[in-house]
Amino acid sequence: MAPPDDISPDQSRWNELGSSRLREMRQEPERFRIRESPHKKKLHHAALLDLLEPLKDKRILEVGCGRGEFGAFLGTQGAHLIGTDLGLDLAAAARELARINEIDARYLAADASALPFADARFDVVLAVNVLHHLSEAHLARALREAHRVLRPGGSALICEPVENSRVLGLVSALVPKPASGRGRPRRPSILERKAWKAFQETLDDRSLSSRELRRAGARFSQVNVHSFGVLIRLKRFVSKDLRKRLPELDAQLLERAPWLGRFGRHVLVEYRK
Ligand SMILES: C[S@@+](CC[C@H](N)C(=O)[O-])C[C@H]1O[C@@H](n2cnc3c(N)ncnc32)[C@H](O)[C@@H]1O
Repeated sequence: MAPPDDISPDQSRWNELGSSRLREMRQEPERFRIRESPHKKKLHHAALLDLLEPLKDKRILEVGCGRGEFGAFLGTQGAHLIGTDLGLDLAAAARELARINEIDARYLAADASALPFADARFDVVLAVNVLHHLSEAHLARALREAHRVLRPGGSALICEPVENSRVLGLVSALVPKPASGRGRPRRPSILERKAWKAFQETLDDRSLSSRELRRAGARFSQVNVHSFGVLIRLKRFVSKDLRKRLPELDAQLLERAPWLGRFGRHVLVEYRK
C-alpha cells in the first residue's frame, strides 16, 4: 500500500524511527538479537502474556507493529506472526528484525482499518498503543476488521492509554511533560496556550476512554477491560526510588480496590469473538 500524502508529523516521526532503525540493524545486526520482551516493564505486560499463552503455534496478527520488537519476542516463543503498520519503513524494519532473529514472521504496510487478509485467519489480533492514533470512526472500523479476521473464539487484545476522568485529565495537562527518548518533543502545560496549541497540532493521537473502547467492540461476544496505572500518574512528582516501586504499589492497590481502575491510565482490553 502506498503511504498517504497527508502524513501527520506524528506519523512521519514514527516512519523516521523505522528508517533509522533499519540503518542501525544493517550496520550491527547482533545488537538486535531479542533476548527478552521489550514491553517487560509495562504495567500490562504480565496480564497480556497470560492472555497470549500458550504462544507455541499461535497465529497472531499485530497491527501497528512499529519496528516489530514485541512481535519478534513473540516469534522467539513459537508464535507465527504477521505484522502490519502504516509506515513502509516500519514494516521493513520489523522484517529485518525478524530475519536477524530467525523467526517465523511476515510484515507488510497496511492500515488497521482495511486488513488485506481473509476472514477467520488468526487466533489473536494484537495492537499496542495504536488505536489512540485513530479517529473514532477509524477505530470502530479497525475493531470490525479485527473481528472479521479472527477465528470464532479468537481474541483481539488491545493495550492503550486512556483517560476516564476529565478532572484528572485536566490536572495532568497542567503539568509539562519532558521530551521522550523516542523523539517526542516536550509537552508544554495547557497554561502555555500558544505552545500547547502548536504541540497539539503536531500530534495525531487523542484521549480514549474505556467506554469508547467497550462501545467500539459491541460485535464481540465478550469485552473485558483490565485497568492499570493509577499511582503511576504521580511518577513526575515522587523520588526516583519511589518511582521504581510505583508499578508494584499500583498492582497491590488495584487488587485491593479494583473500582479504582476507573482512574487508571492504561487498559488492556480483551475482545472475544
Ligand atoms: C505508538 S506506536 C506503537 C508501535 C508498537 N505497537 C509498539 O508498541 O512499539 C504507534 C504505531 O501505530 C502505527 N499506526 C498509526 N496509525 C495506524 C493505522 N491506521 N494502521 C496501522 N498502523 C498505524 C504507527 O505507524 C506506529 O508504528
